[in-house]
Amino acid sequence: MSASGSGLEIRIDSAGLQSRIDELALISEAPPPVVTRVLFSEADIRGRGYVRKAAREAGLAIREDPVGNIFARWEGSEPDLPVVGSGSHTDAIPNAGRYDGVVGVLGAFEALAALKRAGFRPRRSLEVVMFTSEEPTRFGLGCLGSRLIAGTISIERARALRDVDGRTLDELRGAAGYSGPLESVRLPNGYYHSFIELHIEQGPILEAKGIPIGIVEQIAGPSSYRVTLQGEGGHAGAVPMPGRHDAMLAGAEIALAVENAAKTSGSPDTVGTVGIFRIEPGASNSVPFRAYLEIDLRDTRLDTRGKALAQIEASAAKACALRGVRMEFEEINSDPPADGDPKTVATVEKVCSELGLRSLRMVSRAYHDSLFISRVSPTTMVFIPCRNGWSHRPEEFATPEHIASGVEVLAHTMARLAG
Ligand code: GLV
Ligand code: MN
Ligand code: MN
Repeated sequence: MSASGSGLEIRIDSAGLQSRIDELALISEAPPPVVTRVLFSEADIRGRGYVRKAAREAGLAIREDPVGNIFARWEGSEPDLPVVGSGSHTDAIPNAGRYDGVVGVLGAFEALAALKRAGFRPRRSLEVVMFTSEEPTRFGLGCLGSRLIAGTISIERARALRDVDGRTLDELRGAAGYSGPLESVRLPNGYYHSFIELHIEQGPILEAKGIPIGIVEQIAGPSSYRVTLQGEGGHAGAVPMPGRHDAMLAGAEIALAVENAAKTSGSPDTVGTVGIFRIEPGASNSVPFRAYLEIDLRDTRLDTRGKALAQIEASAAKACALRGVRMEFEEINSDPPADGDPKTVATVEKVCSELGLRSLRMVSRAYHDSLFISRVSPTTMVFIPCRNGWSHRPEEFATPEHIASGVEVLAHTMARLAG
């Protein structure tokens, strides 16, 4: 039980929330403990059913939009006022864990249920959203639902998205039961009064410092690039070394250039990763004639990210020229960083101090739907520690106590903002 300055006595049902997190984890394309729930896969569709059920059990009213964002609402006494929002995602990359995103959806339901049990009556409506496709697995582009809500992606670009099998967003959302114009996903200006996303940190800082709550002041800007390399294949025994045009080796040089550029950009927040690297024909006795890489490059600063990108492009061009390999280098996506809203950050900080919980202002190097919601609403995020900073792997873990503290902070903050 906890009471903040508002005098509200809030009791989080930590055991109930943990069993919901564990139940949702069983809805997966892979056997436990692995969680894989790729957008509009059979597991994602069943997961959506679970989310609806959990929202109803929390006493919330459901609405879904044409891209599959699920809104769960508690109507305030002045329903025409801008809403206080929270939420996150339940899709999961291949070989993921059970907490990424899920804590921010099921945890927000629990926050509202706890406020109901405490007898709170909101003036502004409170709304939790499960965003469609925070993860980029299906279309190579993350935060599809929140981009459409905020209007930061054009409808033409959304319609042009294709998965690896060439299927479009319209085909896949239709098969999952969603129809209607994508234009209507965008929320009107001023829809949100404020937005707070609860999430595991996905990094090691809170755990190492022994601090239960992080408050996000800035979210790094992600960017990604697709590199296609065309060399010349041949027999691994018969083609002499001097005459080779090995596409894989050019790709390897590019991957090392990404690492080097990120390490030497001058910003501690520049991170660069080559997470996709495919070669053809993929036979041990054949020189690779084609390579395909995707580069993920992020930073809290656009100048150092730009400098790192220029360095990568120059090194890639040089490596390809020396090896006689043709290169296409295309941008997949490039988003600026976002700042947390200072007043909302201060509100969360005040709630933490009234609850006797230590907190730390921090940067999110991972991206989140809040990156896009912050374009249309005062926004911040509440982070909780996760074991060893692990995320995007099955060993991801957050203690029930830390989850309960995060939910408690979320509940008190939403109550304060809802008036
Ligand atoms: C989101 O999962 C990210 O890649 O930051
Ligand atoms: Mn993730
Ligand atoms: Mn996430």
